[in-house]
Parts: sequence; structure tokens; C-alpha cells
Amino acid sequence: MDKPHHTQLLRRVSLRQLQIFEAIARLNGFTRAAEELFLSQPTVSMQIKKLEQGVGLPLFEQIGKQTYLTDAGRVVHEHTRHVLDALSNLEMEIADLQGLKTGMLRLAVVTTAKYFAPRALGQFCERYPGVEVALKVTNRERLLERLGQNIDDLYIIGHPPELDDVIFEPYLANPLVVLAARKHPLVGQSNIDPAQLAQYPFIMRESGSGTRMAIETFFAQRGIKLKIRMELGSNEAIKQAIDAGLGISVLSRHTLAPEGEHGRLAILDVKGFPIPWQWFVGHNKGKRLSVIAKTFLSFLKSKRDSIMQV
Ligand code: PGA
Repeated sequence: MDKPHHTQLLRRVSLRQLQIFEAIARLNGFTRAAEELFLSQPTVSMQIKKLEQGVGLPLFEQIGKQTYLTDAGRVVHEHTRHVLDALSNLEMEIADLQGLKTGMLRLAVVTTAKYFAPRALGQFCERYPGVEVALKVTNRERLLERLGQNIDDLYIIGHPPELDDVIFEPYLANPLVVLAARKHPLVGQSNIDPAQLAQYPFIMRESGSGTRMAIETFFAQRGIKLKIRMELGSNEAIKQAIDAGLGISVLSRHTLAPEGEHGRLAILDVKGFPIPWQWFVGHNKGKRLSVIAKTFLSFLKSKRDSIMQV
């Protein structure tokens, strides 16, 4: 017969303590965790003290006003996430057996995907009203950090890293185009040589951006040095800057979704463009996808053709 599952820790540590611990680590502070969990600060401190006694080592250290995890804290944090994930999966699977789809979906997407992800989520939540969604929109570098820490259920990113411990599949085409103000001298010309773009001020996304990575690769391969006038950390801000005549840029064609292709910005006809960038959807190999995440993944695939409007 199988041995019963028991560890020393089960007698010394409670799930509630782990939940509080996870909130402090994620939110970077006792006060924020207390607020999120509707607990008083002394209760939070007391529970963490008990948890530290149970574990036998300090889990946090305070440097100035900042709370940091100790080495032991980091180990506990990693395992706590697995425990809490397993519990929320259990909850969702039970709900699934009861014919309900309820629970949490954590999705993280690169900035260009924000033009379709909320719509897809909207349709999904309409079908499954019991689902709560946390959507994080950030750049490639931040998203890869989150992926490394296994924070979210699913990730949408352009060209994922080729790592053994992640699974990604191509999702949708995300062409990158050259955008200029309507009155720009290159508007209306065809088959523009990309080298010509180097004569005009260029507005670049911040470092860590996947769009920037694609642009840099494209121009470096052709030995072209762009004249960067400014760096901006948002696609929308870049569109405004182009419109204001500050320069040209290369962005996802989907950034034009809100106003359509006949809005204030023009797409230049440049040789080699659009850059055939693509979105991929995936997750960490070790992640046990929840029922909700699996359902969302197949929903996303089934909507592949209807989800984009541009
Ligand atoms: P970005 O992502 O927001 O980092 O530029 C775009 C992408 O990776 O496709």
C-alpha cells in the first residue's frame, strides 16, 4: 500500500500562512499584502513570524523601507507557488466536474498584442462569466522575466526564446511596418530603399522591446545605421510622436487597429517590409495548465481567424 503523505511541515505551517507569504513576496511589502488580503498588519506580521518558526529560518529581511526575500525565503517562495497553483487547479477541476468554469486566468502579453488580447478575453469571459482575468501588458524583456518566474498561465510574445523548458506555438502574423506622418516626403513613393530611411529622424522603442529587436536585426543585416531621434516606451506614444512630425518609426501594423489604416499615419512602401514578425502563445513546460488556461488556449486557437480586425 502507498505510504500516507505527510511531512513535518504540515504540522507546523498552515496554508493561510503560505498565502500571506506569497502576497508579501509578490507585492513587495507587508502593508500591501495586508490590504489585498483584508487583514490587519499585526496579523500579517504574526502569521509570518509563525511561518518563520515553522520553517526554522528567517524568510524576509528589511533593508531601509524595502522588504527582500532571504535565500530561505526564495526557496519557500518557489515551492509556495506550486502549492497554491495546485490548490487553485484543484478548485477549478472540481468546478469543471460540476460543469462550471470558474477561477483565475493569468495572461501576460507583449504590448503589440494588447490590440487583440482584451477583445479575445472579453469574448471568453462572456462565454464563461465565472472566470476572473488578470492581464499583464508589458514588453518582451519583462515578459520573459515573468515567464522565467512562472508567474502567469499563458504568454503571448513575438518570437519566443529557443529554450528547452518552454513550449510555444505560432499564433498569428504580426507584420511590422514603417509608419510616417501623412505629410512626410516619402509618402506616396513605392519600393523605397531601406537605406533611405536613415536620412530621417527615427523614433525607437525602449531597449527590452521585441519590436526594437526586430528593427535592429533588420537594419543591422543591411548595414544601415538609423538616425535615432528619441526612444519611447509605448507604441501609442510613438504614434503620437510620428503624427507630431518628430520622425518615422517601425511598429506592428496592429497598432493601427484603433483608427484603421486610413487614419493620421501612413504606411511607407519600403523594400523588405513588412518584417514578418509573429506572435506565439505558450507557457513554461513545467506549468500544469489549469482547466481555465487550457480552455482559453483552445478558445484562442478557434478564434484565430476572427480575432484581428486590421
Ligand atoms: P514589444 O513586443 O512590446 O516588446 O515590442 C513586441 C513583440 O515581441 O512582438
